[in-house]
Amino acid sequence: MAKVTVVGAGFVGATVAQYICGQDIADVVVLDVIEGLPQGKALDLFEASPLLGNDRKISGTQEYADTKNSQIVVITAGIARKPGMSRDDLLKTNANIVRAVCKETHKHSPDAIFIVVTNPLDVMAYLAKQTTGLPANRVIGMAGVLDSARFQSFIAEELNISSEDVKSMVLGGHGDLMVPLPRFTSVNGIPLNELLSAERIEALAQRTRDGGAEIVALLKSGSAFYAPGVSAALMVESILRDKRRLLPCSVYTQGEYGLSDLYIGLPIILGKQGVEKIIELKLTKDELAQLRKSAASIKENIDAMNKLLVTA
Ligand code: NAI
Ligand code: 2OP
Repeated sequence: MAKVTVVGAGFVGATVAQYICGQDIADVVVLDVIEGLPQGKALDLFEASPLLGNDRKISGTQEYADTKNSQIVVITAGIARKPGMSRDDLLKTNANIVRAVCKETHKHSPDAIFIVVTNPLDVMAYLAKQTTGLPANRVIGMAGVLDSARFQSFIAEELNISSEDVKSMVLGGHGDLMVPLPRFTSVNGIPLNELLSAERIEALAQRTRDGGAEIVALLKSGSAFYAPGVSAALMVESILRDKRRLLPCSVYTQGEYGLSDLYIGLPIILGKQGVEKIIELKLTKDELAQLRKSAASIKENIDAMNKLLVTA
């Protein structure tokens, strides 16, 4: 039986757990520092199992020993963005949390693949690799699946068609400089620019870049969790069922796209080994420039984090 640990029983963590159990993908252990919170959510999800038609084991805990021998660890622990707060404001607090969580989970599940969700995403994924010392294929950040889903939803709404038929790629960092790629976006094979004007495509791409902030502004406290939770769970499913889905995920670069020693969203094949392959697309000069700009901003934040952690 596959076992997945979800660290952080907040909005995103609970949604990840709900999808994994509901889709009968794996047993789940949810861990949180707040006593009773993961236990209460796990019990509630357990009571939903007859309704959802699965017999998955789900439990909540404060003890890392209970997470032992997990195949996958999903890290959602941290604080969420509040209105007026940039993703990068979260850096210091979440770096300390993610580092502590990685040490403990890796100790109990040395063979696990890590999926990082905590923001600022690309920097936290880098930190998870740095802390665990795992090979690059086993530490992956979730962002591109979410950002692409947002772009797909906005395109489907604009065209008044099913979002099922829209496929898109959003690469780059999970921040204001993310790179939606209309050239690699289609509606059942029809290139997007056959269906929408350049102005409308850019407006939808901009709404995608602002997607997280749009929800934060509406919620007032806290940030998006339904789509993020499902996005992370779909990554878990692709790994555990070895589906080899081609998805944009934040991965460690070692020369791909001319980038190295950072995490950034790129198209990958996601299977039982984690990152099975990074796909190198032939980008235009402009697309590549956008990706490099995003990478430069991530690199700055990695440097800032390293300084903060040294002085902490
Ligand atoms: P939340 O506040 O609802 O949940 C976070 C949970 O982490 C809380 O229950 C808290 O008690 C727990 N926690 C804090 N420190 C911990 C520790 N040391 N060990 C274990 N648990 C700990 O927040 P939410 O909405 O679930 O978001 C979680 C994170 O995911 C945030 O950093 C948010 O910015 C990020 N996020 C990332 C997305 C992405 O695309 N990568 C999308 C949405 C959210
Ligand atoms: C989002 O994009 C907060 O990063 C999170 O919704």
